[in-house]
Amino acid sequence: MNNFESLIRARRSTRKFTGQPITPEEVQKLLQAALLAPTAKNLKSWEFVAVDNKNMLQQLSTCKDSGAIFLEGCALAVVMMGDTSLIDTWIEDASIAAAYIQLQAEDLGIGSCWCHIRNRYAGDFESEELIRELLGIPDHFGIVCIIGFGNKEKMLPPKDVSNLSWEKVHIGHF
Ligand SMILES: Cc1cc2nc3c(=O)[nH]c(=O)nc-3n(C[C@H](O)[C@H](O)[C@H](O)COP(=O)(O)O)c2cc1C
Repeated sequence: MNNFESLIRARRSTRKFTGQPITPEEVQKLLQAALLAPTAKNLKSWEFVAVDNKNMLQQLSTCKDSGAIFLEGCALAVVMMGDTSLIDTWIEDASIAAAYIQLQAEDLGIGSCWCHIRNRYAGDFESEELIRELLGIPDHFGIVCIIGFGNKEKMLPPKDVSNLSWEKVHIGHF
């Protein structure tokens, strides 16, 4: 895509995938986008775990009560986490990287969706704790989300700019 407005209008959460793998070059581009994201004080508080193992993707899809099932059908999932011992903006840092990686995916024609993890549960178990255990992530990393990727089963319509929530924007004062 050669235009930023078209890119941000085209990006839609994709939860159904063809099953086709993502190429190593595409995986590299996605991770590169995350590493290009800005961080507070340039401390790079984020770290990422890329997962393409089918069995692991299936286990990740059960890491919270709802909204994670789509991870089972992904070609790739990237766990977006932050070093809580480094700086209090680890959530913001990881969130911006998540937005970057999703936009890079769209630019490559790859579908993606955010699976929220922080403050989520699977029954009585904290989702972050379950994922730390599954993937060997040290305790001082907070997990914001997992972004699932795959080739889109169908194209969703781009966002309609004639129908935006302009009432959310306040000019000068609230
Ligand atoms: C912070 C955040 C958390 C989200 N959590 C989930 C989730 O756990 N599972 C899911 O399927 N989608 C999740 N989404 C995707 C939203 O449902 C989706 O972005 C929203 O419905 C708007 O659709 P769009 O992405 O196509 O514009 C999340 C998105 C954001 C930004």
